Amino acid sequence: MEMLCKSAEDTVLSGFEFGKKLKKGDVVCLIGDLGAGKTTFTKGIAKALNTKYEPVSPTFSIVHDYGGDIPLYHFDLYRLTNENDLMSIDFDSYIFSDGICVIEWPDLALDLLENYYTVEIKYSGNMRTINIKESE
Ligand SMILES: Nc1ncnc2c1ncn2[C@@H]1O[C@H](COP(=O)(O)OP(=O)(O)OP(=O)(O)O)[C@@H](O)[C@H]1O
Ligand SMILES: [Mg+2]
Repeated sequence: MEMLCKSAEDTVLSGFEFGKKLKKGDVVCLIGDLGAGKTTFTKGIAKALNTKYEPVSPTFSIVHDYGGDIPLYHFDLYRLTNENDLMSIDFDSYIFSDGICVIEWPDLALDLLENYYTVEIKYSGNMRTINIKESE
């Protein structure tokens, strides 16, 4: 599935539409350069899940828990360097929980994941092209 988003609001709306389809235990990997709109897309997912808190860029923490009808866990693994760092945040316990995990900069985690969605965001100017795929 491919979507074109002309503004940040469009990207939030795409995240919202996608978020409505997510179920307990789903994992979503967000791929895209710095500033691509990964956190913006996550705001839409959070709306769909009716979370208590609005997503922010997890600058100082690696994981945020926003609450919600189904718990939403938002990761930013940009600053992690190896799998031990993942152990130290108890990554497995989130992945195998009944919540939904959304992961920015997921490279380190890919080996630990089974089925997951990949959301790839490409940009030029304010335009975003968003591609969503399921693994396997
Ligand atoms: N069409 C668009 N979709 C999403 N964001 C847009 C769009 N046009 C402009 N922007 C702006 O681009 C920025 C995207 O920032 P965001 O934090 O979502 O990126 P990110 O991919 O999470 O970056 P990082 O890798 O640093 O976490 C925001 O400031 C947003 O307002
Ligand atoms: Mg971000």
